[in-house]
Amino acid sequence: MVSDVDAAAAALPALTTWEALSDQAHVTAGQRLLIRGGTGAVGAFLTQFAHEMGAEVTVTVTSASAEARARGLGADHVVVTAPYSEASDLQAFDVAIDAVGGDVPEWMYASVRPGGQLVVLQEPPSQKLADKYGIRAFFFVVRTRRDRLEELAALIAAGQVEVTIAQTFPLSAGKAAYESGSLPKPRPGKTVILVP
Ligand SMILES: NC(=O)c1ccc[n+]([C@@H]2O[C@H](COP(=O)([O-])OP(=O)(O)OC[C@H]3O[C@@H](n4cnc5c(N)ncnc54)[C@H](OP(=O)(O)O)[C@@H]3O)[C@@H](O)[C@H]2O)c1
Repeated sequence: MVSDVDAAAAALPALTTWEALSDQAHVTAGQRLLIRGGTGAVGAFLTQFAHEMGAEVTVTVTSASAEARARGLGADHVVVTAPYSEASDLQAFDVAIDAVGGDVPEWMYASVRPGGQLVVLQEPPSQKLADKYGIRAFFFVVRTRRDRLEELAALIAAGQVEVTIAQTFPLSAGKAAYESGSLPKPRPGKTVILVP
């Protein structure tokens, strides 16, 4: 059984994650993967699924509480950084994925080994920076797949994946829910409106 709230919060991030790891970057077991923002709505699925795929997973987070959560999700290595700070010591990853949003910092491009891949979820990346570091950098827009939604439902129902939910609002507070999009969230994850 999957709750309505979990279903609403999980579908887009999980589909995005599968598409990034499997269809776009073709991540394989043993590869070194960096996830910037490894405990957000998408980042938490990236961490869990990449771990299941056998990748060596390094994630960045911005707090000690997020560090513990990232380890619980399956991260092999966790780097705690201040928001927007440099992490220039992160190097030679086969694949790096930016799951934070906003501008992609240059150190993310530099973290990928020559010939490796940078996946950007929020907007098309800089081709100039990709060429500078000799990497493939790309953006995609998630597509719906019924088979993956069915697999996701089974994983959630079996308690084998965690869904990351920041907050919920009753439908009667729909305006506040909408306005919360421009405010800091109490925690990373999806905002869900409860429809009676
Ligand atoms: N291309 C597509 O089809 C597609 C589909 C879905 C989502 N997206 C995009 O994916 C991105 C992530 O979405 P989401 O729903 O997962 O967001 P989210 O739940 O808010 O997660 C954001 C993550 O970024 C981290 N973070 C926030 N501010 C930071 C900062 N200043 N420096 C470093 N880390 C920071 C947070 O970690 P801490 O708690 O450690 O701060 C959190 O892990 C968005 O840009 C969204 O538009 C794209």
